Amino acid sequence: MRLEVFANADALADAAAREIAGALRAAVADRGRGTLVLAGGETPRRSYERLAGGAGVDDALALPWEAVEVFFGDERRVPAGDPRLNAAMAREALLDRVPVAASRVHAMPTSGATADEDAAAYERVVRAALGDGAAGGGATFDVVLLGIGPDGHTASLFPGDPAAAERERWVAPANAPAGVAPRERLTMTWPPLERARLILVLCAGEGKRAVLSALQSGAPGAEALPAARLTALPQVRWLVDRAAAGDAPGA
Ligand code: 6PG
Repeated sequence: MRLEVFANADALADAAAREIAGALRAAVADRGRGTLVLAGGETPRRSYERLAGGAGVDDALALPWEAVEVFFGDERRVPAGDPRLNAAMAREALLDRVPVAASRVHAMPTSGATADEDAAAYERVVRAALGDGAAGGGATFDVVLLGIGPDGHTASLFPGDPAAAERERWVAPANAPAGVAPRERLTMTWPPLERARLILVLCAGEGKRAVLSALQSGAPGAEALPAARLTALPQVRWLVDRAAAGDAPGA
């Protein structure tokens, strides 16, 4: 687990935006389209703003939006229009500001009769867009963005919640622990996430230092944290700021 350490959250967000744009341009050049899975959180939001403001100003941030397909790794299960939705944040910071067709933005449904129904509906969307990979073929996302929480969660895969151990469903209902609101979530599970070509984990701020250090050193119990799965995946890049990295060495 090698950390790529940036001076501060702004530098990290800028670097992440450049990585996202570069990987999607390469995907479109190679395969005709690029698939991107967005995350919630403050750190990703800063990268979205970079991507939204970069085209025309900085070529490294320009994206072929007509060939990009956008998904979400997790969502708060609150009604459509609620500002707490990760999709609402992503629209405001990025998607409403770039020429991406609405039909290419796949937000998670949150208003079905049950969370299971919403999860199953989104799984159908994802499987239809990617192909279900049953033959072991290359159906996968090009770029997945993830954050991690101080409790070791990633996406909405929380410690001890069954969604974190799900191996069949690609999208599952999930519950954040007491005290983390809103508790009711939908999340992609490891089977689709861990097949991505590139996973960028964005991690900023002193509040992440302890969990990053536990993941790095393999502290007792750390292996049970959902985010520990990321340490075993070769396509993961850890983009962190100095406050999160602490004294850990990094590029
Ligand atoms: C949530 C948060 C959470 C967040 C990570 C990283 O839904 O509870 O969005 O999952 O993504 O904690 O967030 P930051 O980038 O803001 O640190």
